Amino acid sequence: MIKKCLFPAAGYGTRFLPATKAMPKEMLPVVNKPLIQYGVEEALEAGLSEISIVTGRGKRALEDHFDISYELENQIKGTDKEKYLVGIRRLLNECSFSYTRQTEMKGLGHAILTGRPLIGDEPFAVVLADDLCVNLEGDGVLQQMVKLYNQFRCSIVAIQEVDPQETNKYGVISGEMIRDDIYRVNSMVEKPAPEDAPSNLAIIGRYILTPDIFKLIEETEPGKGGEIQITDALMKQAQNGCVIAYKFKGQRFDCGGAEGYIEATNFCFENFYKTGKAY
Ligand code: G1P
Repeated sequence: MIKKCLFPAAGYGTRFLPATKAMPKEMLPVVNKPLIQYGVEEALEAGLSEISIVTGRGKRALEDHFDISYELENQIKGTDKEKYLVGIRRLLNECSFSYTRQTEMKGLGHAILTGRPLIGDEPFAVVLADDLCVNLEGDGVLQQMVKLYNQFRCSIVAIQEVDPQETNKYGVISGEMIRDDIYRVNSMVEKPAPEDAPSNLAIIGRYILTPDIFKLIEETEPGKGGEIQITDALMKQAQNGCVIAYKFKGQRFDCGGAEGYIEATNFCFENFYKTGKAY
């Protein structure tokens, strides 16, 4: 059973400067909740209650968010404002939170390796909180992936089709289709130019990884952009037939940039806030 979910959250959020100069990008609100809270809710829905967060300098607001604020609790006790805290209180009751700091930014692979002491030797999920994923029709994206893991018992990456001109923003896979929404990966490339991309199937910020990934990351040389890429470490698992790519059901908003962030805001306002499901 998978119990742990790792949130790499040390990145600078440069695409959202100056908003992210003194505030973690994971704390940007989508309507009334910070991005990372949506991710933790998705993890808990999938049964992953041990939350591990890789933070960095200037990210203390994350730890304060997942903690009790006694002054605030005291202030609103017995008022109708208590309803605003119902969701976050539930997360505090049902999840555990542990943190470690990444002192140097050396890529997503390096961030995941930094989380190793929090994860140990068990399979785990990874959520990149700036990808906000929702599915109004049924299971959340992580829940869908956990079910798939129980079937395949290997690493799983969530994918979506992107405009072929945009492959240079993503890890891109190719593989053998084994169901209309599942591929066994045989190749993956980090941020290829459109002419070099093996397909237009892009990895988004949801992964399930088997723990052998840590050793493979350690053995991975810096790749694209001089950074240690999770895509390169996963490629080594794929060579043994051990990576599944899954076209998830639902929607994904890239909240690391203004356009996706605004789309997510409108979506959440219509579907959660206005309908009273936002807390
Ligand atoms: C990272 C990964 C990339 C993946 C993307 C998904 O890139 O390196 O393979 O497609 O996340 O959001 P980043 O967006 O951190 O540059």
